[in-house]
Amino acid sequence: MRQDQSFASAIRSGLNEKQRSISPRFLYDKLGSTLFEEICAQPEYYLTRLEAAILGKYQKEIVKNNGSSFSLVELGSGSSKKTRILLDSIFEAHDSLHYFAVDLSPTALDEASRILSAGYPNLTFVGIPFEYETGLNAVQDYINENKISGSKIILFLGSSIGNFEPSESIEFLKMVKKTMNPGDTFLIGFDLHKDPDILRAAYNDKNGVTAKFNKNILTRINRELDGDFDLDDFVHHALYNEDERRIEMHLVCKKDCSVKIKSIGETFTFSQDDYIHTENSYKLTIPLISDMAEASALKIQNSFTDDDKWYSIVQLGSV
Ligand code: AVI
Repeated sequence: MRQDQSFASAIRSGLNEKQRSISPRFLYDKLGSTLFEEICAQPEYYLTRLEAAILGKYQKEIVKNNGSSFSLVELGSGSSKKTRILLDSIFEAHDSLHYFAVDLSPTALDEASRILSAGYPNLTFVGIPFEYETGLNAVQDYINENKISGSKIILFLGSSIGNFEPSESIEFLKMVKKTMNPGDTFLIGFDLHKDPDILRAAYNDKNGVTAKFNKNILTRINRELDGDFDLDDFVHHALYNEDERRIEMHLVCKKDCSVKIKSIGETFTFSQDDYIHTENSYKLTIPLISDMAEASALKIQNSFTDDDKWYSIVQLGSV
């Protein structure tokens, strides 16, 4: 999921694999990002609502663990919508706060800066338009240069970690761990394993928004790489792979067809029922999260979970 390849070369290599695949990071062009926001509001997609409810319920406890002085760092901050839930309780006890928003989209950073600066006059918004690792190092440089005291609360919300392969998740945790000082904590949103019917429904919403989100990758290939995918030839399919504990999103071909992608100079032949694998979304358990943390020299300090145990925000600290 986190490879650093250009769109064209990623599509070329993904469509030439025996089992064709496209990295989920390419789902998020402008329309894809809008469709994802729409998915979050679908009745079947419980993840966003539960995470917001957990943040709301435990906000005081969450920030209490970092002592009296801290900065907030959010990885993949997007609209910073959920962060706002924490800000109210932070400002009840603090006069000021540095908020570092790490996101590749300058538009999202500008918009978040405008909204947060208007709503919280004592908040210093620092937009960091870099990848996570470079971004975290830039945050530490800023903290050192400006002699900002206290610890860091690092946030990685939305169950985005579920889109990493298990080995990538551990690599990611180790990378973040390297940037943590004693007293820093790392809060991650995890979607938990549950009744597969609930999971399948969440990725097959009745309004068809997830289907549009998935198929939009073909529109993106047509537009950006001069492809000729006929969108009517492919259908969205999301299944729960119980052995791997993950939802898989596929684009399944309804009939034999061939697709020319001019910019990469190749034609791809599909038979009926062939599919392109576009996303994995892993569903964890607390013991599995604990193992992942341990493999990264981190430990669970707290986990905040809804009553049904469908979703958890886990607070990790150094061992
Ligand atoms: C961003 N990510 C956590 C979402 C998920 O649930 O895996 C992306 C998504 N794919 C389909 N629906 C939502």
